[in-house]
Amino acid sequence: VRVAILISGGGSNMVKLVESMSADHPAKPVLVLSNDPAAAGLDRARALGVPVASVDHRPFGKDRAMFETALLAPLLAAQPDVVCLAGFMRVLTPGFVARFAGRMLNIHPSLLPKYPGLHTHQRALDAGDAEAGCTVHEVTADLDAGPILGQARVPVLPGDTADTLSARVLGMEHRLYPAVLRRFAEGDRTPVLLPAA
Ligand code: GRF
Repeated sequence: VRVAILISGGGSNMVKLVESMSADHPAKPVLVLSNDPAAAGLDRARALGVPVASVDHRPFGKDRAMFETALLAPLLAAQPDVVCLAGFMRVLTPGFVARFAGRMLNIHPSLLPKYPGLHTHQRALDAGDAEAGCTVHEVTADLDAGPILGQARVPVLPGDTADTLSARVLGMEHRLYPAVLRRFAEGDRTPVLLPAA
């Protein structure tokens, strides 16, 4: 199973995904693609021996369709079976998503359907939630709303800030996404729920 991973920044989730695809894994990483040529994750991918590419979204301004046409070129060239969005911060149009229907995954730092969109940790704190977490879902035309493939929960602790909570959630993302990708690559759609009971 050929996996392409889209990033925008540090790529910590991408690193964990690549490291999880060891020899006895049905999937292998074939491309790490960023919308920011300066994304630190690109150097981390190179260090891991994964082919990289980047398409800067800024020259395209508001023309999302033209940016996505440019993004598709290296992506299709890699002939991925699965596309993983990992800290990818651009909203993709329904047309782009439709090309990868049923085989595009995303990790979102909340317990969806709660808190789609941004600032998820602050919103959970503001709501006084006792728990927070992250979700891996299939990407569909509706933002952060596709079928859930995995969820991981963490406690909200007294004195938590958005920073302390996001760090705790990120640690679980790094466990959840590789577990979901392995199961997905094996053709199993049973949701992964962490911590395992
Ligand atoms: C993090 O906020 C993470 O919660 C979300 O994307 C951001 C960057 O992740 N998934 P990464 O370190 O680039 O994978």
